[in-house]
Amino acid sequence: MAVFLGLVLRQWLGEGAIIITAGLLSCFLAFLLIESRNFGLGLFERQVKEVRSNYVQMEALIGVHATLKPSAPLPPTRFWAASPDLLRELITHIQRHRPRSVLEVSSGTSTVVIGLCLKQLGAGRVVALEHDPHYAGITRQAIIDHGLEGIATVVDAPLKEQVVNGHSYPWYDLSALALGSPADLLVVDGPPDTIRSMARYPALPLLAGHLAKGARVLLDDGGRSDERSIAHRWAAENPGSVLEFLPLEAGAWSLRLP
Ligand SMILES: C[S@@+](CC[C@H](N)C(=O)[O-])C[C@H]1O[C@@H](n2cnc3c(N)ncnc32)[C@H](O)[C@@H]1O
Repeated sequence: MAVFLGLVLRQWLGEGAIIITAGLLSCFLAFLLIESRNFGLGLFERQVKEVRSNYVQMEALIGVHATLKPSAPLPPTRFWAASPDLLRELITHIQRHRPRSVLEVSSGTSTVVIGLCLKQLGAGRVVALEHDPHYAGITRQAIIDHGLEGIATVVDAPLKEQVVNGHSYPWYDLSALALGSPADLLVVDGPPDTIRSMARYPALPLLAGHLAKGARVLLDDGGRSDERSIAHRWAAENPGSVLEFLPLEAGAWSLRLP
């Protein structure tokens, strides 16, 4: 290509074409070198970030296992499930504040971890709402595998249209929910954000009647803009509450109700 360009230019410019072609070629090579260097640097930065992030999650996961000493393998963490750093945060909160009643919006690995923690402390129950019967079954089996019957319960709660502050949301049907005592800790990790914008907003307005005074609300995926809006809206609607962002892998919001 460069030789062809040189020959064409030579027709018009004579011997000067060699210098122009060589100059163009040098510019092109310099451009390629700079681009590949930038690409390599970007790749390296991403890899360093990923290695650091994996280390943080491994460290948290080791802490979770060392603290709870599960008698069966824990279900997977991360991706669809809570990340290890959120699970560690939950364990720390439960050990410090010893909630008697924990309510979860969605079920899975976190239900097992909370159940194990309550079992270790010798008091408390966790009830998880689950909209998907298939995953409700998987979590129920995990509860049995970890000997948590009587401590952890999954309640079938299909999503149904519900009106909250004049807007309609597909949200968990609460008709089968029966808590022994008002929840001191509410963990919100569903429904999936693909269902609707602000999909998790109804949790606090619709569950307020099931929460104890001064209850703590933990909202997972706090790094997402919807969850940020939801947390601030909850705080504004509950004057006297204290809102805090937890810088975890997926980010989380902690709201202490008055
Ligand atoms: C964001 S996930 C989080 C669930 C839970 N907080 C946890 O940490 O595992 C929410 C949904 O994932 C689904 N889920 C539960 N168990 C699952 C599994 N084993 N595999 C894939 N999805 C699952 C359930 O429908 C659940 O409501």
